[in-house]
Amino acid sequence: LYDDILFFGYTPADVLDAVKDFEVRDDDVFIATYPKAGTTWLQELTWLIMHDGNFEEAYQKPVYFRSPFLEFKDEVLNEIGLDIAAQLQPPRIIKSHLPVTLMPNQIQNRNCKTLVLFRNPKDVCVSYYHFYRASSSFGNFRGSWEEFMYMFLDGYVDHGSWFEYTKGWWGRREDPNTMLVFYEDLKRNLRMEVDKLCAFLGKPLPVPVREEIARHCRFENMKQNPMTNHMDVYSIDSNISPLLRKGEVGDWKTIFTVAQSEQFDKFCTDELGHLDIPFRYTL
Ligand code: PPS
Repeated sequence: LYDDILFFGYTPADVLDAVKDFEVRDDDVFIATYPKAGTTWLQELTWLIMHDGNFEEAYQKPVYFRSPFLEFKDEVLNEIGLDIAAQLQPPRIIKSHLPVTLMPNQIQNRNCKTLVLFRNPKDVCVSYYHFYRASSSFGNFRGSWEEFMYMFLDGYVDHGSWFEYTKGWWGRREDPNTMLVFYEDLKRNLRMEVDKLCAFLGKPLPVPVREEIARHCRFENMKQNPMTNHMDVYSIDSNISPLLRKGEVGDWKTIFTVAQSEQFDKFCTDELGHLDIPFRYTL
């Protein structure tokens, strides 16, 4: 536990301490997401936009090297995300699953931008369950779906409570350097969301480049692309469940029972109902 938030071994306390002192640049872009919100998708979109549609490089280097995971310590490869980020040429696109309270202190004082990606919590929970089964970082979880759902509601999962995470980042929505993005909007009209991202990031890219970015980032294309599908990441057993699993809105309906869904809804209303966050469960 760090600040009462559960972290697995790949995010040790010394790294979380170091994150606070991480040197932020004005031209940095942070991708702030709770796990399974669609992070990889937004990383690829943002990296391509910020690099003027440099598909040549995007097809040569995995997204996790182009856009490092700030608080990740890889014991096997002996790499830490914040060290990789420190060596990157600007503009840096930096992924983090940290709650707003544990982000680098300098984020407040610099002119950097932050994209906060939200996804409806039922789909996040299901996606996380499958990732827990597939990932050796979490001991290839062998519990039941229902057991996992309660762990999720209790915040007893890696990176802590989705509810606390969401409350924290929702509080940043008025900040002019922060843009909220919804997974369901990306699904509904990716091309239009590319335009919104370009506007926020100050990148007036030509229309054909925007179209190509949207095409490149469609689920089927990212799933087939070895630079984005994480099939080579040793800690994920893609035979159990690949990172790019289904990429759908509403997949939760295939696994939640009616009783579980009602219980989950009640929990969401109790925790977040007063905030009026426009989650869409059933596109
Ligand atoms: S991680 O490891 O926490 O950073 O994972 P993250 O990338 O946040 O989440 C993985 C889920 O995002 C889906 N995904 C996509 N959906 C639609 N289109 C595209 N291009 C895309 N890329 C990733 C991925 O399929 C996971 O969701 P599920 O529901 O499990 O399929």
